[in-house]
Amino acid sequence: MRRNGDLLDISNLKVVFDTYAGQVKALNGVDLWMNHGERLSVVGETGCGKSVTALSIMRLIEEPGRITEGSIRFEGRDLVSLSESELNRIRGNDIAMIFQEPVAALNPVMKVGAQIIENIECQKSAACGDNEIRGSKRAERAGRSSSLEHMRAMLGHVGLDWQRTENLYPHELSGGMAQRIMIAMALSSQPRLLIADEPTSALDVTIQAQILKLLNSLVRETNTAVLLITHAMGIAAQFSDFIAVMYAGNVVEYGSVEAIFSNPLHPYTVGLLKAVPKIGSAEELQSIPGIVPDLVSPPSGCRFHPRCPHRKPECDKEQPRFEPARGATEADRHHVACFLYQNDH
Ligand SMILES: Nc1ncnc2c1ncn2[C@@H]1O[C@H](COP(=O)(O)OP(=O)(O)OP(=O)(O)O)[C@@H](O)[C@H]1O
Ligand SMILES: [Mg+2]
Repeated sequence: MRRNGDLLDISNLKVVFDTYAGQVKALNGVDLWMNHGERLSVVGETGCGKSVTALSIMRLIEEPGRITEGSIRFEGRDLVSLSESELNRIRGNDIAMIFQEPVAALNPVMKVGAQIIENIECQKSAACGDNEIRGSKRAERAGRSSSLEHMRAMLGHVGLDWQRTENLYPHELSGGMAQRIMIAMALSSQPRLLIADEPTSALDVTIQAQILKLLNSLVRETNTAVLLITHAMGIAAQFSDFIAVMYAGNVVEYGSVEAIFSNPLHPYTVGLLKAVPKIGSAEELQSIPGIVPDLVSPPSGCRFHPRCPHRKPECDKEQPRFEPARGATEADRHHVACFLYQNDH
């Protein structure tokens, strides 16, 4: 099957953190890809490597962490080998990111309107990088509106009244407002990829739904691709076109929402889906037996094998290949890394 990530194509990505307790093997060969305008959710338990994957795309992995292997192709260019100045052109412009704690990501001593303007100006200026494609887009935008008007329009897009918002400081914002501000900032550069790392998990449920709905309509209007990181399968199903399920540093299953929900293959995905309570069901929420592995000395072979109800003799010996599932189509892109489905086993 053709791998067709014309926007983002991550292949065999490995990241380690050298700590006093030993080397944390955080990413163990991550594979995932997406096309322009697509929405991909990355799901998995705490510590499985979702944020490290996101930070690697932004090349924001810092000491003691480092990328040891693999590639992250963004529109064909490998971000792993780009210089810091080339990366600065991409960060915030072509790829933007929003985080779980929006208030912490804002400058506490600057009014939010001024922060958005600073962000817009920074994208326009050479200091934040420039290139021909973005340059022409910016010139067009600059002609259309000043940075002030642009900021006010962005506040309007995210459902905030600029007259009541632009002069507020971050501590005066509710969690939902702060996340709207972050979305306004992230989308002000018209990025082609927006990475959202648990953008709603700090908010209460009704606000979560509003923010996701807003994000969804904005990205659809502008054909922005979104990589959404979430713990919640329900959010992934509602929000995305594709789902990547991560376990202990690997993508163990990937495919369309329909493929993952109607035909989950990896025993971990099956366990995760059982753990999602069904509406109206009195069934207790199931948890997956066993504990998340220690990534300093992870299990050998398939990292899920100690918890796997279908373990085979080879599972603790080799790492299963991540390959197309039987019957997978170009449309569902169903892939799995499990010996239960490997053709030569
Ligand atoms: N700075 C660091 N130093 C050492 N280990 C780290 C560091 N950052 C991340 N890790 C390790 O990398 C692994 C993956 O972490 P990551 O933050 O990506 O998990 P996550 O899937 O985002 O979890 P959560 O759902 O809790 O946000 C974890 O085992 C974590 O302990
Ligand atoms: Mg995280």
